[in-house]
Amino acid sequence: GRFVYSMKCEDEFVDILADRRSSSDLGHALRTFNPHPYQGAPPCSAADLNKAVLESQYLRYVTREIAMEMGSSVEEVREDACGILEEMSQNLQLGFIRLMAYTLTKVLKRLFTSVYVNMEGLNMLQQAVQESPVILMPNHRSYVDFLVISYILFTYDIPVPVIAAGIHFDFSIVGEILRRSGAFFIRRAIGSDKLYWAVLSEYVKTIVRRGYAPLEFYVEGFRSRTLKSLNPKLGMMHMVLEPYFKGEVFDVTLVPITISYDRVLEESLLAYELLGVPKPKESTMGLLKASKVLQEDYGSMVVNFGRPLSVRELCQGKINRCQYNLIPRDLPQKPTTEAQACANWLAHLMVRMQEEGSRISPWSLMACLLLQAPTTVLMKEGLLWHQLTEKTLWLRKLVLDFGAHLNWPGQVSDSDVLSSTLALHRSILHRKAGRVYLVQEDEPARKHPASPEEGMIRTAAMMLMLASYRNQSLHVFVRPALLASAIHITKSTQAGEDELFSFFRFLQEVFSYEFIFIPGESSQDFEEACVLLKKCEAIHISQQEVTVSEVGLEVLSFLQALLQPFIDSYQVMFRYLSGEGVQVFTEKHFLPAVRSLASKLILSGELHTYEALSSDTQKNVLSALRRLAAVTKLSGWVMRLTPANLFGFKLILCGG
Ligand SMILES: *[C@@H]1O[C@H](CO)[C@@H](O)[C@H](O)[C@H]1NC(C)=O
Repeated sequence: GRFVYSMKCEDEFVDILADRRSSSDLGHALRTFNPHPYQGAPPCSAADLNKAVLESQYLRYVTREIAMEMGSSVEEVREDACGILEEMSQNLQLGFIRLMAYTLTKVLKRLFTSVYVNMEGLNMLQQAVQESPVILMPNHRSYVDFLVISYILFTYDIPVPVIAAGIHFDFSIVGEILRRSGAFFIRRAIGSDKLYWAVLSEYVKTIVRRGYAPLEFYVEGFRSRTLKSLNPKLGMMHMVLEPYFKGEVFDVTLVPITISYDRVLEESLLAYELLGVPKPKESTMGLLKASKVLQEDYGSMVVNFGRPLSVRELCQGKINRCQYNLIPRDLPQKPTTEAQACANWLAHLMVRMQEEGSRISPWSLMACLLLQAPTTVLMKEGLLWHQLTEKTLWLRKLVLDFGAHLNWPGQVSDSDVLSSTLALHRSILHRKAGRVYLVQEDEPARKHPASPEEGMIRTAAMMLMLASYRNQSLHVFVRPALLASAIHITKSTQAGEDELFSFFRFLQEVFSYEFIFIPGESSQDFEEACVLLKKCEAIHISQQEVTVSEVGLEVLSFLQALLQPFIDSYQVMFRYLSGEGVQVFTEKHFLPAVRSLASKLILSGELHTYEALSSDTQKNVLSALRRLAAVTKLSGWVMRLTPANLFGFKLILCGG
């Protein structure tokens, strides 16, 4: 039909805004909503839920225990528990879902040309919801998607979810509206507050056990500021799995959901946040001010509902539920090592499934290529547009060879697709006389010209915006790219597969905070990298050695250049750490010091990547060094460097 296009033959995406544009918004908000819940589970009001939590054996037990430990009365502790519950709990009401549907229709129509949803995924979800408790696990890249899943489910008669939100709106109006739309709030820093943990986990487990509504949470913990996936947080994952591990429910269904954007509302805000400087001229609120944001066009949003996964099937042979049966179900107990490993594995798996479900935009491919051109060229001479488009089409083929999905409109010519992509992102890239240039923001009116540092920050913001769009597709390339880098590093040695594998693993270790790898699956990752590079005929593997083919050179050098900014950024930080007098340091000193070193190197033309300025990258380096024991924590925030351990990395990454 007119509004349907197929991005890959097997799945059909429907633009849910198409109907909204041709019929009344109010009519949609007031539609009869007739979902089929899990085994016909009766609806459960917020008050019922809270009561069930407070009266649970488990919470009673913990309450008594805490009262004893603290020497206070059971009533007092119970009152605290009530307070926590009140602060936390959602208050889902259909009336508010309707209000939300009405508002969101208006907002989405204003911002996006289309919101695509895969019908097959929705149909599977509809089925799954009736069969077992369902956990919805979307990614989160923009504030605008917070209620989008609820909106879609409402439109298709699927029970709307209860949503775990990390943000805290206190008791403000916004908070209240979100509560009534199904959000419940979790404190940011819970630490070791035993009562809080107990209330939260009983709350979550009760929702899962009753199954009257799907439970939605972000396995990545929060909104990714870098547009790439984050390492999963495990707390919620444990809680939703426990009813299954304990045999309280027959199965739990996990549904990975991926939301992909052509253009992200917060793009420039994100870049300045990473640079750690306030955005010039505009304040944060100013940028998010409706008037400004609503005037812009953000292209399309694609929501991909992944195949529902049965925890029962996934965990077969991995977990022994009998162990749990030895202890009465209501008593608190630590998850077994087995259960912990299983939750960790599942959480990583879900992030990987989210990655697989993402739809890569043409702009993200362009960003990959633009970042490989020298910044000065982007700013001064410009790139030939036709070369950029040719290369983008080349990259499209590679992405498809690697098995990823694109958000590439099918009914228009490729050159139209690329031109409209460019138009959508004209705040970053502009075209003049057949060439494209990085947009250079106008100098704000001022008495004296901007200092080189100020100029650099503005360029850096643009480059980081590009980098974040590149980040949207990094997961497609990362495994073959690590292999390409390993081949490059060992090129003089004619390395065999074994040696390559150990370099590959080393790089995985170093970049373990940058990209998502399922723990313990390095061999599979390596295997995958080999298969993909063989598939695009880039390499040839014989028993003795790995050889690069003629066509392979282009692929390998693209992949290796993709990782180069990371390698360069890490080198800067190693260089800082091996400087004089840096034996003992704190994170608070490390970040600004590294930033100032990186700025200096960029200004002097020695360093070519602006990504070393990203606070995210800087923190990732520190985490990686700690994990690899090159840096150890002394006490509090103080850390110590073990130069001998750092030396190994420098040797390999920096080529001696
Ligand atoms: C892109 O992702 C990398 C990898 O994790 C991260 O270090 C970097 O900060 C991100 N860049 C931007 C601009 O988001």
